[in-house]
Amino acid sequence: MTERKVAVVTGGSSGLGLATARELAGRGYDLVLSSREPQSAAEGIRLNYDVRVKDVAGSIAEPGLAERLAAASEGLGGATALLLNHGGPPVKPIMTLTDEDWTDAFKTMVTGPLRVMRALMPQLQANPTGRVLAISSFTVKSPFAGIGLSNSLRAALVNALKTTALELGPDGILVNALAPGYVETNRIREWNDSYARQENTDVEDIRARTLETIPLRRYGTPEGYARLAAFLLSEDNDYVSGQQIVYDGGLVVAN
Ligand SMILES: NC(=O)c1ccc[n+]([C@@H]2O[C@H](COP(=O)([O-])OP(=O)(O)OC[C@H]3O[C@@H](n4cnc5c(N)ncnc54)[C@H](OP(=O)(O)O)[C@@H]3O)[C@@H](O)[C@H]2O)c1
Repeated sequence: MTERKVAVVTGGSSGLGLATARELAGRGYDLVLSSREPQSAAEGIRLNYDVRVKDVAGSIAEPGLAERLAAASEGLGGATALLLNHGGPPVKPIMTLTDEDWTDAFKTMVTGPLRVMRALMPQLQANPTGRVLAISSFTVKSPFAGIGLSNSLRAALVNALKTTALELGPDGILVNALAPGYVETNRIREWNDSYARQENTDVEDIRARTLETIPLRRYGTPEGYARLAAFLLSEDNDYVSGQQIVYDGGLVVAN
């Protein structure tokens, strides 16, 4: 069993990323917390948990971020866990997306996370419990109209992660994706607002319609998501790898 636990969390300043960072801090992980503006979230964790927290500002699409994250986690003794996350892409009908929309989103959703994983891999391989998890979306399993960038590019990342699980399994590295269904965060509020505008209705109507599609008839919580994410990132997860698991109240199986 390893004593030292160090997690690198990208997209960690709000929503699912922040909830997972807090859950990991509660379990004793030192953190490298990153996003475009991670400072106040990092300060909140420092104030509330007895762990070391380094904040590293930058978009996951920036080529230089990966090396800065690796240097920060090296300074904490080396990463044992990596959570890959970023904001959601624009919600637009697929035939209105330009080449530039696709290229920009690809940098954030595919090459950026893979670059960060490559930079951190020597540290993850150097400890016996290296774990990688990406925040994905239920739309990989059940594509949703209006969110073609998410449906398509998250699928690309998930299959890249599955390939990593195949290639690095012999080194003891476990790699998974955890797909949220509807979880109460800013992103889902923006998503519901956007659909309400597109369908010329109010957000309560959209919310009621989505609840009808979820067998549990409620949205998930960031804290519930974070408990499952922290499990998958920890040594308690000793045999789950190469999977995309859904945290969705039964949404995908019902649709
Ligand atoms: N909530 C749901 O129910 C749901 C469902 C399906 C999929 N998802 C996906 O899950 C992911 C997390 O969602 P959430 O609900 O937690 O969203 P959120 O509350 O909006 O959080 C997004 C996080 O990503 C950071 N971020 C945004 N752009 C970034 C970039 N270019 N590079 C690095 N970090 C970036 C944000 O911080 P800064 O602004 O400081 O950069 C923030 O910390 C998103 O990709 C979302 O689309 C969520």
